[in-house]
Amino acid sequence: MSDEFENVARMIESAGSVVALTGAGISVESGIPDFRSPGGLWTRFDPSIYATFESFVNDPSKFWEMAEELNPLLEGAEPNPGHLALVELERLGKCDTVITQNIDNLHQRAGSSDVLELHGTFRCGTCLKCGMKHTYEEIEQAAAGRVVPVCMSCGGSIKPDVVLFGEPLNARVLQRAVELATGCDLMIVVGSGLEVFPAASLPDYARRGNARLVFFNIATTAFDSVADVIIVGKAGETLPRVVEVYRGLSEGCTGTE
Ligand code: APR
Repeated sequence: MSDEFENVARMIESAGSVVALTGAGISVESGIPDFRSPGGLWTRFDPSIYATFESFVNDPSKFWEMAEELNPLLEGAEPNPGHLALVELERLGKCDTVITQNIDNLHQRAGSSDVLELHGTFRCGTCLKCGMKHTYEEIEQAAAGRVVPVCMSCGGSIKPDVVLFGEPLNARVLQRAVELATGCDLMIVVGSGLEVFPAASLPDYARRGNARLVFFNIATTAFDSVADVIIVGKAGETLPRVVEVYRGLSEGCTGTE
């Protein structure tokens, strides 16, 4: 395994621009379940009932029922060594931007300075009736004693600023993500099954821009055939090891001293 770590570390060393694309798997070791692994969120809540924009508009109580289980995990989660490894890579000048599908704010709390949240964030919400913005804390207050939190101004339904199925992504965020993917020399994909588009198309944009791809995952993905290297293991263990080897290279320690 150390040869693979050194191989990836040398790919990082020789890359001019490195971009990280992360999915729910990087936050599993922070106590937040992913979606499609055994026991994942979608194995317990049918997303067509609990997580589409249409289902939210028709009956927001379903989404909030699921949020009742998920929110305490999001609130109580701390960045894990996988998140921190990407911060260290940024400190070493090799990963300026993290493109994430996650809504858990853990990359920002870990210290990553440029995070593109493709699927939004749970940290705030918007009233579907009047458009008033609400912080997470205001949503929690508005939810007190209710099944569905309502707007403090007009009583309308508040929707968290997460992208639900059937909802468009923020066009500016997506455009910047495509530009970064297309222009990078190396994309490291961490903890994503690459099953949801357009996020799952970003590795292909990177490939078409002649970038190399490294996947960090505990299982196979639909795109494994296009990866240059696949590091199998928990991201909280494998990513820090690769960054440690890269740090050694960058500080002039050759080999695996
Ligand atoms: N380390 C590395 N990889 C892991 C770990 C771990 N500790 N735990 C799980 N994984 C991997 C799984 O093997 C899987 O490939 O993380 C991936 C998680 O895949 P999904 O559950 O499909 O999550 P994700 O790829 O982020 O889903 C994308 O789908 O439902 C939407 O909006 C939701 O952003 C989400 C999007």
